[in-house]
Amino acid sequence: MEPRSLILDMDVGVDDSVAILYLAARPDVRIAAVGSVHGNVEAPLAAENARRVLELCGLDDVPAATGCWRPMAQELATAGWVHGEDGLGNTNQPPPRRGPSGEHAVAQLIRLAHERPGIYEVVATGPLTNLGTALVMDRELPRLIRSVTIMGGSADGVGNAAPFGEANIWHDPEAAELVFNAGWPITMVGLDVTMVTRLEEPELAAIAAAATPQARFATAILQHYLGVYAKSFGGRRICPLHDPLAAGIAADPTLVTSALDAEVHVSRDGETRGMTMIDRRPKYMEAEGRRGPFTRVALQVDSQRFVDDLVGRLTRPLPGRPD
Ligand code: RIB
Ligand code: CA
Repeated sequence: MEPRSLILDMDVGVDDSVAILYLAARPDVRIAAVGSVHGNVEAPLAAENARRVLELCGLDDVPAATGCWRPMAQELATAGWVHGEDGLGNTNQPPPRRGPSGEHAVAQLIRLAHERPGIYEVVATGPLTNLGTALVMDRELPRLIRSVTIMGGSADGVGNAAPFGEANIWHDPEAAELVFNAGWPITMVGLDVTMVTRLEEPELAAIAAAATPQARFATAILQHYLGVYAKSFGGRRICPLHDPLAAGIAADPTLVTSALDAEVHVSRDGETRGMTMIDRRPKYMEAEGRRGPFTRVALQVDSQRFVDDLVGRLTRPLPGRPD
């Protein structure tokens, strides 16, 4: 069976990098292209980091284009304190072999969608500025993209970057509102499920003990990130798998064990700016204007199955590579 074709849209940071490592190890999907976006780090650095990780996986032929440098309607804010100023846990990785692709990530997304209508599946693990901008530029886009899976928001309204705002949504609420309501098949993988899907000491030790290049890289870039999250977990080294889980669900939707098809809107005002608001009214209320478009909101996932799968793919040689 032909591997499914993915376009990744990421603010390559630490967990975005682990998501790339995971997808590169799945023979049933092909990373066709990566677009970077502002968020954890600035967009050019996020693209450079994407190329670093792609090259580590032997994917030198996969383009990594630089995307939007700032949100639509608020100032740029980055998160070097979480992901390291270099976006890779301050590990000072060697530069990638390739330079920028020269194409803007939004142009890349629109071009690919028109070249192969109905084929590409988008996995977005950063702020949604590129996707939102692409929707503003191209009215056809929702009909050309096979599916969209995003790491972002939370079904219960809990935030991380802000009291009610999860970082990817909070960084660009205007873009997120467009993305949730564009009418394409979209799945939201929020903090509710990513915060309980995590690497803990046994898994971290298994990865650290492995000799594969991807396990070594993951172990290195996770150290700073674990130190930051230790503050939230009473000093324990725990890595919530935000972006890797979204990647996993995009590749294997059966990981979602409970979901809600609901209208999702994003607060853009005041204290709740960046909050994802899930309309949980039952379907019989269609008559009340509950028309959609709908988002599939992941409420529960098979965390253990995903964690085991991720550890396995990080600790075994990548498909087609003997090392
Ligand atoms: O809230 C978690 C999200 O924000 C992840 O995508 C992480 O990489 C940061 O972008
Ligand atoms: Ca991210």
